[in-house]
Amino acid sequence: MAYTIAVAGKGGVGKTTLCGLLIQYLCEKEKGPILAVDADANSNLNEVLGVEVESTLGDIREEIARAEMMDPSPIPAGMSKQDYAAFRFNSALVEEDDYDLLVMGRTQGSGCYCYVNGLLTAQVARLSSQYEYIVVDNEAGMEHISRGILPHVDAVILVSDCSRRGIQAVGRIAELVKECKLNPGAMGLIVNRAPEGSLNEGIREEIGNQGLNLIGVVPHSEAVYEFDCEGRPTAVNLPQDSPVRKALIEAVEKLLHS
Ligand SMILES: Nc1ncnc2c1ncn2[C@@H]1O[C@H](COP(=O)(O)OP(=O)(O)O)[C@@H](O)[C@H]1O
Ligand SMILES: [Mg+2]
Repeated sequence: MAYTIAVAGKGGVGKTTLCGLLIQYLCEKEKGPILAVDADANSNLNEVLGVEVESTLGDIREEIARAEMMDPSPIPAGMSKQDYAAFRFNSALVEEDDYDLLVMGRTQGSGCYCYVNGLLTAQVARLSSQYEYIVVDNEAGMEHISRGILPHVDAVILVSDCSRRGIQAVGRIAELVKECKLNPGAMGLIVNRAPEGSLNEGIREEIGNQGLNLIGVVPHSEAVYEFDCEGRPTAVNLPQDSPVRKALIEAVEKLLHS
């Protein structure tokens, strides 16, 4: 089974940016085949990685659900719906040299998707066994994980900005992780965009109050901010010796070896 790392935190704190850098780090370390999963409804991990996405798992799900009701059905005669799902599923997978990317996409439309969800969950499970690492860019609620669409989690990286409210928000996510019995072997907090890379005392105190395990402080970087503003993929453009990369790698190594 793949070692699964989930990244979570409230919106705008830098989850996607750090996820992109983490994926690139694992690729460079030749940590084996890696699956990147964009599980945020507001999906944009591909922009940080600099790859194009044609369709999401959500799109495929809609298509399979619609295929049921269409006459004639686009499912070839003699092909089971399960096989059709498997066949179409592959079109939602973006294959790069070092990693593959799967975008969950939005959950939309009413009606019952239980059956289709079941098919796709089975596909994700089958797929996930083919990788060494899976890195999941989540939204705060970690919906796809808590609903069992994505496999179990080995490590959770909580990301917060340098604010008390940000720390309180990850504190609530840590609670959710416990309530959902995700039982990750490791869970650590990265504080991102710290001015001059140093942590304010008040924030440190709040981290203590929330009982969180601080694994790293990533500095605010004008370069990261500018790449984003210019629409240039951060993971591709950020220099190797960037303090942001260094701080992230240190934190990840600490978590993986804890
Ligand atoms: N260390 C950093 N220094 C400067 N800007 C950052 C840093 N990390 C993230 N950002 C910027 O913050 C914004 C939100 O980042 P993003 O990764 O999209 O957050 P999230 O995925 O949590 O919503 C982007 O404009 C991004 O470039
Ligand atoms: Mg994001």
